[in-house]
Amino acid sequence: MRKQCWLAAALCLLLQVTFAQSARYPIIPWPQQLVPQSGSFVITPATKLVLPAHPSAFMIETAQLEALLTQALGKPLSTATKASKGAIVLRQNPSLTGEEDYTLDISTTQLLMTAKSPAGFFRAIQTLRQLMPASIEDTRTPDLKRIELPAMQLKDQPVYAWRGMHLDVSRHFFSVDYLKKFIDLLALYKMNKLHLHLTDDQGWRIEIKKYPLLTTQGAWREFNNQDSVCMEKAATNPDMAIDTSHIIHKDGKTLYGGFYTQEQMKDIIRYAAARHIEIIPEVDMPGHMMAAIRQYPFLACSGEIGWGKTFSTPICPCNESTFAFAEDVFTEIAALFPSKYIHLGADEVEKTSWAASPACAEVMKANNLKSVEELQSYFVKRMEKFFHSKGKTLIGWDEILEGGISPTAVLMYWRSWVPDAPVNAARHGNSVIMTPGNPLYFDGPPDRNSLYNVYHFQPIPKGLTAEEAKHIMGAQANIWTEYIPSEKRADYMFMPRMTALAEVLWTNKNNYDNYLQRLNEQYKRLDMLGVHYRLPDLDGFTEDNVFVDKGILEVKKPLTDMTIRYTTDGSIPAENSTVLPAQYIINTPQTIKLAAFSPAGNRGDIYTLRYRQEAYRPSTVVKDARPGLKLDYYTGAFKSVTKIKAEPDSTIRVNNLLVPEGMGKGGGAFGARIQGYINIPATGIYSFYVTVDDGGILYIDDQEVVNNDGWHAPFQKSGQVALEKGWHPVKLAFVEGGGGYTLKVEYSVNGSKLQPVPDSWFGAGL
Ligand code: ACM
Repeated sequence: MRKQCWLAAALCLLLQVTFAQSARYPIIPWPQQLVPQSGSFVITPATKLVLPAHPSAFMIETAQLEALLTQALGKPLSTATKASKGAIVLRQNPSLTGEEDYTLDISTTQLLMTAKSPAGFFRAIQTLRQLMPASIEDTRTPDLKRIELPAMQLKDQPVYAWRGMHLDVSRHFFSVDYLKKFIDLLALYKMNKLHLHLTDDQGWRIEIKKYPLLTTQGAWREFNNQDSVCMEKAATNPDMAIDTSHIIHKDGKTLYGGFYTQEQMKDIIRYAAARHIEIIPEVDMPGHMMAAIRQYPFLACSGEIGWGKTFSTPICPCNESTFAFAEDVFTEIAALFPSKYIHLGADEVEKTSWAASPACAEVMKANNLKSVEELQSYFVKRMEKFFHSKGKTLIGWDEILEGGISPTAVLMYWRSWVPDAPVNAARHGNSVIMTPGNPLYFDGPPDRNSLYNVYHFQPIPKGLTAEEAKHIMGAQANIWTEYIPSEKRADYMFMPRMTALAEVLWTNKNNYDNYLQRLNEQYKRLDMLGVHYRLPDLDGFTEDNVFVDKGILEVKKPLTDMTIRYTTDGSIPAENSTVLPAQYIINTPQTIKLAAFSPAGNRGDIYTLRYRQEAYRPSTVVKDARPGLKLDYYTGAFKSVTKIKAEPDSTIRVNNLLVPEGMGKGGGAFGARIQGYINIPATGIYSFYVTVDDGGILYIDDQEVVNNDGWHAPFQKSGQVALEKGWHPVKLAFVEGGGGYTLKVEYSVNGSKLQPVPDSWFGAGL
């Protein structure tokens, strides 16, 4: 029976891993092969731990497992050298191929964990940890008398070598303790790279001994306009308050900032390494360097400090003193960080000061450089040579392609509006790390679609052959922190999204509904770990609701142990607000605010539900109900649908409220109006959900139903309308600012699941 299951592992997986089993095996990321078995293995304080034959090679990992079990049981297990019945056995397994590969064989009589390398043992321990009750995470030692582990046979290894998270510690600063908490979460979900964005215009965060002003002065700033936005938002969301532990008072000024000493960074690197996570430092240049130029003005072409048309003035690649500075900085960075990679940044460079510089004119002439883009490439290539002299590989944001890329640089792709960049780089033979803004910029506020979008992200860009695709090392989510001023806000922004990415990168098998079930189990653990994650969305309502005679609000709870509280006086629901009954009757127009609370006191998103009383809107007669809608296309950058110009540049027929792929040639800006009629199948109260990037408004019967206007990342908004059976005029106005778009319109009726509006409902457009 067991053998057959190994042979047909995929089939067994499909048949056997039901939703009920997602509670029994709540592992994220899902293992490559897991064959459930009946029964369980029981760990008690009397269980023996059998260490590998060469324990010194796995000292850290065995100590980690011992610490985990000690925390759970309240006392350490005794160790043995020979496997025996009832024991936990750790064994080195040279037959495995990858450093992170491991197996876990749990029967009623033995728990056998094998790996080839320490990294594999570490990953195995995280799987084991996720199979144990969440209460083991309680650092006050739960003193469990027995831990039951479900029997199974598991064989596991990652699909992608680069499973990364990025954190910008410049725009807002994060403490050493927070970085360790962040690393712990990466480790729990088998992520293996942490890219730290250590410097930017708003603050220099890593000690460089040769240039002390970078941190004594450059790590501190007065509050900026991004802080002001956060402070405004803090009035209704305490997580948006600036973390006071990073505020100091000096020379009569209030300053925000902080930095890591090299000693602190060594500690962080060690902490990460013990969890088999590599830290990649980014010191972003030649742009994004204002914090450094303020202290060392010689770095800029003409000593100017400030802002150009779009970005800050960069350092000057035409003075040898700039290279001397950069090489000094990277000498210290290379010595400090053991990673083989150093990230040079090289994104968003405002090159006007170079174009105006006589020194640059000379350098360009001497080196036969035809454009400032080639001058940037000259800087990057010189720095890469220097990195090579230190044994390091250069990573750069995808702008490094522009003036010509060296064959050995690694490209980090981020500009969703330049879809060819990773394809061209891979074809050129460069290694590529995928971090496209949509959906991997986790600084974009999460909504009910975020998990789905991240889970369905495919790291291999379209158009690559299997051979070319080997250049895609993996992917990474980035957290830019201009508007993330606190640890709680950071937790909310990346959790649980990171768990979806972890499963894409480790497992890469679409198992979404099952993943959501497993995630529900993970929340208990995250509560124990004090993670301020975004709670799962509530369903059963829209923002704008209508009722005809009386409405019933029935909110579905995605987690049984969450409590939903509400207010009707406009105040933010708090832990002492009234609990929402299972059925809340609405018979007067009102505004309800509701939020879910986890047992640990985590508050979910606040939903504001407006209830209007309305009669069913009458339908209209349509004479020529040909299928399809009319789409008018308008070239130009319109920041709001109300600004779209009057005359379209072209008109096409579409069969739904959609903008066909590829509009706005080359990722350009445009507007669109899609109109015609919608045939409502039965009189009822319909909810519409519009997910849009950049902006859009949906009108039915010439009245606004969903307003999701203005340029923004993909975001869902909803509205409700009481409609009589039959035809109603429908219109969707849409604006795209450039860089790729999303438009999705869904509906639900009488509380049904969201579903796409069928093409057959639309007609009379053209
Ligand atoms: C970036 O977001 N500027 C890499």
